[in-house]
Amino acid sequence: MAFHKATLLSLLPLISPSVAWGTLGHDTVAFIAQSFVSKKTASFAKALLNDSSDAYLANVATWADSYRYTAEGAFSSPLHYIDALDDPPAECNVDYERDCPEEGCIVSAIANYTARITPANVSLVERQKALKWVIHFLGDIHQPLHVENLEIGGNGINVTFNGTATNLHHIWDSNMPEKLIGGYSLSDARAWAGELVGAITAGKYANASSTWLNGIDIKDPVASAMVWAQDANSYVCTAVVPKGQEAVEGKELQGEYYDEAIVVIQQQIAKAGVRLAAWLDLIVEGKTGGHGGHGYGHGYGHGYGHGYAKRGEAKLEDWMVEARRVRRAFGYNCGAEGHQH
Ligand SMILES: *[C@@H]1O[C@H](CO)[C@@H](O)[C@H](O)[C@H]1NC(C)=O
Ligand SMILES: *[C@@H]1O[C@H](CO)[C@@H](O)[C@H](O)[C@H]1NC(C)=O
Ligand SMILES: *[C@@H]1O[C@H](CO)[C@@H](O)[C@H](O)[C@H]1NC(C)=O
Ligand SMILES: *[C@@H]1O[C@H](CO)[C@@H](O)[C@H](O)[C@H]1NC(C)=O
Ligand SMILES: *[C@@H]1O[C@H](CO)[C@@H](O)[C@H](O)[C@H]1NC(C)=O
Ligand SMILES: *[C@@H]1O[C@H](CO)[C@@H](O)[C@H](O)[C@H]1NC(C)=O
Ligand SMILES: [Zn+2]
Repeated sequence: MAFHKATLLSLLPLISPSVAWGTLGHDTVAFIAQSFVSKKTASFAKALLNDSSDAYLANVATWADSYRYTAEGAFSSPLHYIDALDDPPAECNVDYERDCPEEGCIVSAIANYTARITPANVSLVERQKALKWVIHFLGDIHQPLHVENLEIGGNGINVTFNGTATNLHHIWDSNMPEKLIGGYSLSDARAWAGELVGAITAGKYANASSTWLNGIDIKDPVASAMVWAQDANSYVCTAVVPKGQEAVEGKELQGEYYDEAIVVIQQQIAKAGVRLAAWLDLIVEGKTGGHGGHGYGHGYGHGYGHGYAKRGEAKLEDWMVEARRVRRAFGYNCGAEGHQH
């Protein structure tokens, strides 16, 4: 696949300046989580982040996307995704050993930073960063194209959206959520979060959301993150490229495609918010009440494992080795420079 960063850079003016799960998606996930965390978790986060405002999680939800573009933070770029080497739409799946390379991935990162938020022997600055990464990565892992290898997470699949030339990754991150909400400001995110919280507690997600914390176990952050990754990756086969890559390549996707995708996007943002709240409760308190008084997630106790066991090595097929080389050549970004998410 001849797809080079240099080509992308020359296209910069054509790419929407809106930061991508864009600012709107990440801020919305954070606001939903703020609605569901326990009082103790809220106090803990406000103190660690030194922010007592009513946007204390949302205010740091996109920090990780700025930090990755600094020299100091460049190492964290590959931690925003896991490139599942599956075969959509025929087969979707994520395999930790096959898909998480030496430099790490979103699953290993969630495990690492989960273990670095509370310990007294981690510096204050590093604990703050760890919390900001966990807030951000719980959002990213719910975007189907952050858990898929195909054409560098869809970055190499050209499409148009309302007549604008862009790519499949970008419309899932930003164009489609922004079309639904009509903007990407903090107040847009607050309003969208309010709607989704209503749907979770007493609306269209009230029933489904009772299963959203299944498989969550603070003592096994890798297994927990893999449940979320598998869940999001399944939508690559059913909603992102259900009829294959060729069916979307070069197409205008604002119509029927959007109508079906936006249903998945709304639900994934809602899930991410519920799961982030529960995960933070588990980190801070060792238990979570979940949301809406369902009362799941109790009884894990405090004291989760430190970090995670080193993953084994998988034997990669030639095309998988090539796909990984192409991703690395792309520069570890999930999109063009200036297209942060
Ligand atoms: C916390 O924030 C306040 C104002 O927002 C600032 O004056 C203070 O220096 C901050 N403290 C730390 C430890 O960063
Ligand atoms: C965990 O995070 C720290 C701080 O960013 C980093 O130095 C370390 O290499 C990470 N460990 C693993 C195993 O990813
Ligand atoms: C912090 O202490 C734990 C043991 O309580 C140890 O396993 C871990 O390596 C220490 N971390 C750092 C960053 O020193
Ligand atoms: C995608 O679009 C860019 C710019 O329009 C072009 O350079 C590139 O070759 C296209 N890629 C494919 C796979 O068509
Ligand atoms: C779609 O594009 C047209 C023409 O550029 C513009 O007027 C309209 O506002 C756009 N619609 C959306 C939803 O962005
Ligand atoms: C939730 O499930 C109950 C009982 O099965 C059903 O009566 C109700 O209509 C469902 N609500 C929604 C929003 O699907
Ligand atoms: Zn990201």
